[in-house]
Amino acid sequence: MKFVTTNIHKFEEVRTMLKEFGINIERVELKISEVRGTNEEIAMDAALKAYSIIKEPLIVEDSGLFINALNGFPGEFSKWVYNKIKPEGILKLMEGVKDRSAYFKAVVAYTDGKEIKTFTGIVEGSISYEEKGNKGFAFDVIFVPEGYSKTFAEMPEVKAKISHRVKAFKEFGKWFVKRQTYEF
Ligand code: IMP
Repeated sequence: MKFVTTNIHKFEEVRTMLKEFGINIERVELKISEVRGTNEEIAMDAALKAYSIIKEPLIVEDSGLFINALNGFPGEFSKWVYNKIKPEGILKLMEGVKDRSAYFKAVVAYTDGKEIKTFTGIVEGSISYEEKGNKGFAFDVIFVPEGYSKTFAEMPEVKAKISHRVKAFKEFGKWFVKRQTYEF
């Protein structure tokens, strides 16, 4: 199965887990123009564009960090915001803000050219007061999942079990296995 992404971290985070479903993924890098919209709209649009190029069953994933006190910012703009202001910029925006609650959301879109399906995963948590940890990527250094006191960047083994991405891909894996069972 092709996983179309330029982000090696996304690929590494789900590769082993998908093997448990008997799904072997291969990373494909394509330059695809992103539409503006929700994670669902972006993922579905990217999946269809990628399919028109590689014409094989594939998955894409679109995700983001949603901070409640900032009305969901950076949300769908997370990649762009990360590149511009980094976690440091988010911490500045959050100075003096008491409500630190936030969540990560990932949407996986699968298409085989005939159908298109999406699977969503969310992990609730909060924004820390300083950057911590050196594992993971992007906003992992400032995101503390609910029930823990460390950031994702300090505990990749926890992230591998509870992340938005892992949840979305698990939903996909369950659906895909069931679908194959009924097909044959
Ligand atoms: P996308 O590649 O357009 O889906 O953008 C996703 C962006 O959301 C990333 O570049 C990060 O800024 C942020 N993001 C999504 N998932 C994670 C995660 O697991 N850890 C840290 N940042 C994430």
